[in-house]
Amino acid sequence: MSTVITGASGHLGRLIVDQLLAAGTPPEQIVATGRDTGKLADLARNGVMVRRADFADPSTLDDAFAGAATIVLVSTTTVGERFDNARNAIDAARRAGVSRIVYTSTLNASTARMMLADAHRRTEEYLRDSGSPFVILRNGWYLENYTDQLSMITQYRALLGSAQDGRVSAAARQDLAAAAVAVLTQDGHLGATYELGGTPFTLTELAATFSDVLGTHITYRDVPVADYTATLTDAGLPPEMAAAVADADTGLARGELFTDSDDLTKLIGRATITPREAILNAAAVEESR
Ligand SMILES: NC(=O)c1ccc[n+]([C@@H]2O[C@H](COP(=O)([O-])OP(=O)(O)OC[C@H]3O[C@@H](n4cnc5c(N)ncnc54)[C@H](OP(=O)(O)O)[C@@H]3O)[C@@H](O)[C@H]2O)c1
Repeated sequence: MSTVITGASGHLGRLIVDQLLAAGTPPEQIVATGRDTGKLADLARNGVMVRRADFADPSTLDDAFAGAATIVLVSTTTVGERFDNARNAIDAARRAGVSRIVYTSTLNASTARMMLADAHRRTEEYLRDSGSPFVILRNGWYLENYTDQLSMITQYRALLGSAQDGRVSAAARQDLAAAAVAVLTQDGHLGATYELGGTPFTLTELAATFSDVLGTHITYRDVPVADYTATLTDAGLPPEMAAAVADADTGLARGELFTDSDDLTKLIGRATITPREAILNAAAVEESR
């Protein structure tokens, strides 16, 4: 019986596959799926089973999930399609008779009012009602959402947002992948919902950490949500995603991306990557380019 990782052509899914392999899971027991299997060719060369799965096309899912004991359901990209996609995948997983569905959700999914939480809340409800054994990983905001902006932040000496003084328990994808691997490789966890966050910080505090690491003053500039949306659109984000990301900052301001849960450190058995470490890593990568 195999473990299917969806979204393996993306950042989080790929890290889960890599960390499962590093933990000693035989490659022939892992099925890596994506819409474009070309992106998974190196995994296939290393013995991982590679299959095409497009959640928007349920006809691809029966073959993709055949013989699976566990499906890791990584939420898909397009915000407006996320719930329908997840419902298709949960239905296909049930048809395949899997014994566990692990779903990557968002922090505080049952109470958060931000736009992005809506599909996660509906998916969690659908999953619970489906009768399938499940584990829900409520992943925190990625630290990479900030460190990926390193060159812009350096150029403008500013971090932009609409988060006011809200605190965000952001975590590195690497740690969130490690939590998924812990759930996949340990007994127990069935029926659990984990709130997975790292060290909380305000964006003013984060700007101070950027300043410290980069040796130049970085300001956090809080702007109205409409201005932030426009800036993100100008920077090349699709309008729907720009609106959702800016709206997430209003959720951040309301505390919806904060958790004081220690679920993440408990699952991974070590301290989480700090914002400072994440910025140092990103700066080292930038310098090596
Ligand atoms: N917590 C956060 O801060 C945060 C931030 C951004 C996103 N997210 C959510 O977390 C998920 C994983 O994050 P990530 O960084 O790994 O995102 P990512 O790198 O964009 O990867 C997304 C994955 O979803 C796949 N996908 C998209 N639409 C699909 C569909 N219709 N059927 C099957 N697969 C589909 C993509 O496949 P292709 O290669 O075919 O495109 C890709 O493998 C995202 O998809 C999003 O839902 C969370």
